[in-house]
Amino acid sequence: MEHLFPKGFVWGSATSAYQIEGAWNADGKGPSIWDVFCMIPGKVHGGHSGATACDHYHRLEEDVALMKQLGLKAYRFSISWPRLMPAGSGAVNPQGIAFYNALIDRLLDAGIEPWVTLYHWDLPVALEFGNGGWLGEDISDHFAAYADLCFQYFGDRVKHWITINEPWVVAILGYGLGVFAPGRVSNAAPYLAGHHLLKAHAKAVRVYRDKYQSVQNGRIGITNNCDWREPLSDTPEDRQAAERALEFFLAWFADPIYKGDYPECMRTRLGARLPSIGAEDRALIEGSSDFFGLNHYTTMYAAASGAAPGSVYGNGGLSEDQDVALSVSPEWPLTDMQWAVVPWGCRKLLEWIAQRYNNPPIYITENGCAYPDQPKNGRVHDPARVAFFEGYLREIHGAIQNGVDLRGYFIWSLMDNFEWASGYDKQFGITYVEPESLRRTPKDSALWYREVIRNNGL
Ligand code: GAL
Repeated sequence: MEHLFPKGFVWGSATSAYQIEGAWNADGKGPSIWDVFCMIPGKVHGGHSGATACDHYHRLEEDVALMKQLGLKAYRFSISWPRLMPAGSGAVNPQGIAFYNALIDRLLDAGIEPWVTLYHWDLPVALEFGNGGWLGEDISDHFAAYADLCFQYFGDRVKHWITINEPWVVAILGYGLGVFAPGRVSNAAPYLAGHHLLKAHAKAVRVYRDKYQSVQNGRIGITNNCDWREPLSDTPEDRQAAERALEFFLAWFADPIYKGDYPECMRTRLGARLPSIGAEDRALIEGSSDFFGLNHYTTMYAAASGAAPGSVYGNGGLSEDQDVALSVSPEWPLTDMQWAVVPWGCRKLLEWIAQRYNNPPIYITENGCAYPDQPKNGRVHDPARVAFFEGYLREIHGAIQNGVDLRGYFIWSLMDNFEWASGYDKQFGITYVEPESLRRTPKDSALWYREVIRNNGL
């Protein structure tokens, strides 16, 4: 990488609890909705589960040493709510506290800044079955109480908090299409779940700001995910379709936080299925992020539905609601997820965010790609992944040159892990994890990333 990034730019990598920790029922941990979802035949590729995953719970020393070896400056991980509070509320598990204390301390000893996500999809089962999960009225209060506990125990050392990872995925894949836990199918539930996710985020932020921020001096925000949507043609219909797709994807969650209400096109199209944000909710939600967390993976063309019949597929949310036909160019290379590699889409998305939300500080909290990597003679060559990162970082750098206030970049993921409904079939890691022994081998992309970090003068 010949480009230099701004001083203080945060270079990191990310994981999440359920995808790497394993130890699903060890030391007092309660079950999560993913533990249960994986037990339902046919839900997860190959019947895989995160029961052992990368066994990070037992290998944290080794993993922090790996991060240090890779030169990482920041590490984004998530706390497992049921490891800390086995039933989601009430009793606290001291062994869970001890585990995250040890992880945070080891990271700081290694000069690595912990970035902590409070919710990366592993809801305590008790809250799903007893309270209706993200559809339940009281879920946001339970989340705020759990967040309070995390600030109380870890906030002396953790200075960057992400409340919720990708509410879009929780709402659409978990409560709309039913392909992720808890596996519900509905065309109204996602919007109610989304509303509760926003309130949960905002209540946690309020707790942090009221009780902790002035003493602990950290920053708190939410991470949303969004692909770029490029108009298929220059017609007003296709341009509107692309804009609508971005609004149903990202503005759904970002507009309430930055503008105080859901996007108009969602309100008109969804009617009563979209809860309204009343004065009280608005006071809670508006302004509730110190930074804009973004997970970005791919780009698709958007056209007015009907304009490109038959082209609706994948990654579109509830496509009948947004009325957008999505497609990809046959010229775009695809990753193992069948996601197109389109680096300029990332720049356009960053510029769209900067423009719509008055240039907030942005962190890319995830970007990466899956490829079927195998070791050869002890090395893992992954030139496609290096090319992917080179392309995306070049465009990201371009966005910064154009005035976007981007402050950090986290590669998804530190190591191959449990990729949700795809099980272990899809490998996003810059480190290869051997299936049986779980031995870690940094891939060429990890060594390349280390050089990028070094060249940026850190
Ligand atoms: C994100 C998610 C991660 C990871 C990644 C790759 O949506 O936050 O947990 O799985 O996608 O699919």
